[in-house]
Amino acid sequence: TANTMWGGRFAAGPDAIMEAINASIGFDRRLYAQDIRGSRAHAAMLAATGIISPSDADAIGEGLLTVLSEIEGGQFRFQTALEDIHMNVEARLKELIGEPAGRLHTARSRNDQVATDFRLWVRDQCDAAIAACRALIRALVTQAETGADWVMPGFTHLQTAQPVTWGHHMMAYVEMLGRDIGRFADARARMNECPLGSAALAGTGFPIDRDATAAALGFDRPTANSLDAVSDRDFALEFLSAAAICATHLSRLAEELVIWSSAQFRFVAMSDRWSTGSSIMPQKRNPDAAELIRAKIGRILGAAVALFTVMKGLPLAYSKDMQEDKEQVFDAADTLMLALAAMTGMISDLTVNRERLQAAASSGFSTATDLADWLVREAGLPFRDAHHATGALVALAESRGVDLPELTLADMQSVNSAITAQLFDVLGVHNSVASRQSYGGTAPDQVRRQIARWKGAMEGW
Ligand code: ARG
Repeated sequence: TANTMWGGRFAAGPDAIMEAINASIGFDRRLYAQDIRGSRAHAAMLAATGIISPSDADAIGEGLLTVLSEIEGGQFRFQTALEDIHMNVEARLKELIGEPAGRLHTARSRNDQVATDFRLWVRDQCDAAIAACRALIRALVTQAETGADWVMPGFTHLQTAQPVTWGHHMMAYVEMLGRDIGRFADARARMNECPLGSAALAGTGFPIDRDATAAALGFDRPTANSLDAVSDRDFALEFLSAAAICATHLSRLAEELVIWSSAQFRFVAMSDRWSTGSSIMPQKRNPDAAELIRAKIGRILGAAVALFTVMKGLPLAYSKDMQEDKEQVFDAADTLMLALAAMTGMISDLTVNRERLQAAASSGFSTATDLADWLVREAGLPFRDAHHATGALVALAESRGVDLPELTLADMQSVNSAITAQLFDVLGVHNSVASRQSYGGTAPDQVRRQIARWKGAMEGW
């Protein structure tokens, strides 16, 4: 039999496979709360503008609340034949209240309905992502505060570069997450316009009040172009892009945790709560959660690529292709939230091996730059010459199998006669980090300054 929602011109129902490819109820049921909220706002507006009667609007509003409680109570029977969440809700409303249900869809289309529902959902996800990033920032700042002056090797090319502090390293991720929050907040602000009332694509001849529905749904204003409103999914693309960047940051931190927790590094130990064992090797403590966070960027970036690909060739306005937006965004949002929560848990529980960090910081000629800087400052050498002389000293130390501070003064002077015993002061890792006083540098004072700035920001959260 033909579809009751749109089957007027149809003699037969769809093929079973047509139904299978067409239906979205399997996933868009997640929009039920947004759909009912949007429909209630629409019905109230239709009554306020005199398009439907107040009693019909009341019946619709009440009936929708019943549908909501049925869904939340698990009593609702979702039907694939009814295609999507919009028609499932409306069909049940019809069963509950009869004729007035048929008036709800006045001056509306599923095109503006789904655009509205989905914006509401993605808007909530922006808020959730911001809250989750903030929680991770809190955990990182706590780590940074504890170890604001703990020295560790800073790396470039994963080769020892210069000593930095643990606090500085933690705060690097705080900055990244701060920008992630900014991206989610920007995306949220830009998407906060209400498509409802754009109808199928051209707007409507009914005297609707779009400002009223926009305000009722917490939007800043109605969208200004009906074609754009029903066919735009850039709000979802922006969310996915921000999510992919955030997940990239999480993946890098996860990679560091994997490296740092290895037997070769032993910089950190993951708590039992965030480790797994091996079924064969009894000694193992594997950082599975970190590895999975590192891997999950693949799904999130994949979702972004998938939706970009869906959208790039679509003519205006709505095409059914756009139904493919939801699963990608749902999966990316779920994945991001899980990754943020897991990372927050791991960072909060992390045991940091301060001694190992310091020992590693002192190896690998990490203060060679300090030596070169001393030659510039105290002996007046051009930096390039100082770099060359220091390189020679590193080669000498390496040939002897010692670190720079273990060379004798005579060794030093054999390379550059201007060197005095005072030079040895700058070869210590603590002096090295303490000297990096430039704004944003790794000196503990500077790190504490940034921690204080973030703690100030956190008070407003
Ligand atoms: N299930 C559809 C979607 O997710 C709702 C909009 C359908 N509109 C239409 N004209 N068939 O996009």
